[in-house]
Amino acid sequence: MASQLWFISLALPLMVIWACFPSHIAAIRFETKADAALVQSLCKESQDPDFCNRTLAADPRVEAANMDGLALISISLTVDQVQTTSDSIASILGQISDTIGKRRLGVCQTDYTDALGQFRSAFSSSDAKAYWDVIDRVRDGTNKVIDCENIYKRDPITASPISVDNHNVIKLSELTLIIVDKILPH
Ligand SMILES: *[C@@H]1O[C@H](CO)[C@@H](O)[C@H](O)[C@H]1NC(C)=O
Repeated sequence: MASQLWFISLALPLMVIWACFPSHIAAIRFETKADAALVQSLCKESQDPDFCNRTLAADPRVEAANMDGLALISISLTVDQVQTTSDSIASILGQISDTIGKRRLGVCQTDYTDALGQFRSAFSSSDAKAYWDVIDRVRDGTNKVIDCENIYKRDPITASPISVDNHNVIKLSELTLIIVDKILPH
């Protein structure tokens, strides 16, 4: 009876977690663990420590991750953000009717498709520990998102409907570059 209770209270929740996130768990190596202090020091180096607290530091996978794992986590957060933004671009496009707004968001749609490809490649490169390639991919992906942000600053200047999303991608990329900088030899 006691062992059955143990199974239900401990093993079952773990199996449910495993079933929900198998690829993420498999992607993270369990060598040296990233302690909270390490993640905090990485967050402090970033432009927006509060954002880092709410994203990377708040991710449940961080506790079991080493530096290589942290890079994978931050890239996967970026891929998720880019995917989410791509989806909202598609729905916003259906709601706007002005020509300039449509054209600009159309450029963003292409930018985000390209960015998604770059960040997915960055994840594969990070998994292969090809960190110079990770830097290239993250920069190229981020530049696409910066392009999407900048087209709204041309004449006539208009407000981008996805400016917050763009900045989220840029901030997540910064976190990846901070982590990768720690991994690469100096
Ligand atoms: C981030 O979280 C840590 C630990 O919870 C806290 O000490 C720190 O003040 C937070 N930083 C910001 C900018 O919210």
